[in-house]
Amino acid sequence: MDFSKTIIRWYLQHKRDLPWRETTNPYHVWLSEIILQQTRVAQGLSYYNKFVSSFKTINDFAAATEQDILKLWQGLGYYSRARNMHKTAQVIVRDFNGVFPNNYQDLLKLKGVGTYTAAAIASFSYREPVAVVDGNVYRVLSRYFGLYTDILSTKAKKEFTALAQELLDKASPDVFNQAIMEFGALQCVPKNPDCAVCALNDSCYALQKKAVQDLPVKLKK
Ligand code: ADE
Repeated sequence: MDFSKTIIRWYLQHKRDLPWRETTNPYHVWLSEIILQQTRVAQGLSYYNKFVSSFKTINDFAAATEQDILKLWQGLGYYSRARNMHKTAQVIVRDFNGVFPNNYQDLLKLKGVGTYTAAAIASFSYREPVAVVDGNVYRVLSRYFGLYTDILSTKAKKEFTALAQELLDKASPDVFNQAIMEFGALQCVPKNPDCAVCALNDSCYALQKKAVQDLPVKLKK
């Protein structure tokens, strides 16, 4: 069974309609991904919509006062995220003429943009073939392929990133990345996933070995 084709087929049938999936605007993708870093989709949605309608462009966002940004951010927590975003927006306006960097390596140089966010923007906005690796991806890959490396370790980050990059559908990196995260969010959930209806159940390592609840391995720090 082809993992990538199956997961994309599943996604096209089951995906939620989310506004940041309807855009390639890097400013919108960036906003959504930073908001969703520590926030659930259900809560993040209204914040995303508020920010997009209050600040139509990154120039508007950069020109706002920090107080305005923090006020809209209120309730999301981790306020350093909002402060970093504001500073980053000002850098993009000042140094890049308001144009977002258009590739993974340059995106990584932005404050508050790590490997996950850079891969998300590069793939969703520019269809650059770089795989995203978040908690969903760790869970799906560790179970399906039977990977027991501690997901908090540097070794795991390397291993899972290499595997995700290999599996990535290079013709549709945007769809594949959304698909694997959505699969983790809706089907291969942390507790009691409904493996009986899973599109990958005929070849899942964890299901066959009765190890679904043991994976991913997450050792205490
Ligand atoms: N969580 C983080 N990024 C997401 C995305 N693009 N869609 C849904 N949930 C997400």
